Amino acid sequence: MTTTAGARLDPKFVSLVWIGPERAVELAEMHARLFSPAWSEASMQDSLSHPGSTAFLARVRDGADALPEPAGFVMGQLAADEAEILSIGVLPKFQRRGVGSLLIEGLARAAKRAEARRLFLEVAADNQAAFALYRSCGFTAIGMRKGYYTRKDGEPQDALALALALDR
Ligand SMILES: CC(C)(COP(=O)(O)OP(=O)(O)OC[C@H]1O[C@@H](n2cnc3c(N)ncnc32)[C@H](O)[C@@H]1OP(=O)(O)O)[C@@H](O)C(=O)NCCC(=O)NCCS
Repeated sequence: MTTTAGARLDPKFVSLVWIGPERAVELAEMHARLFSPAWSEASMQDSLSHPGSTAFLARVRDGADALPEPAGFVMGQLAADEAEILSIGVLPKFQRRGVGSLLIEGLARAAKRAEARRLFLEVAADNQAAFALYRSCGFTAIGMRKGYYTRKDGEPQDALALALALDR
């Protein structure tokens, strides 16, 4: 993916809204616009209902006179002193404008408040945009999982495991 950086959004125009299973339909629709295969509404609902589920919807006002519109989401899971990013996505119109970074910062803050010490995630080894985002947020590679994902055409795809220390 070679999206060029767009006009950075002023963070005051980006709000992060905590969401739960009541937003599963909206989230499944957004997920389907960004991922293939997409998660079903039922699996989204299941994931958002899990104890420890922490998810945010980013809403953006693209200019002082604009109405807020959904721009992206992050879904995380907190367990004991560890947290994991299960999925993150930003709609194409808002990519390269800082929304992904704000979503990660929001989740990292929530995880830290819940006393998590590290934030983990897995990313497909060929997802350069996501890898660049995670690196820019301070994540470092801690391992590789061979054939962790299966592509639509059945091809196995390796995953990189990344971690971010949540400093006290
Ligand atoms: C990955 C994704 C969430 C990034 O969100 P985003 O809002 O565009 O990210 P940001 O604007 O906060 O980017 C922050 C930094 O990450 C890096 N980055 C993000 N997208 C990039 C891209 N396409 N190419 C190169 N670097 C990129 C840049 O360093 C960027 O800073 P810069 O714009 O000042 O150069 C978004 O591209 C997306 O939703 N992709 C499809 C779904 C997906 O792959 N999700 C991740 C699954 S693990």
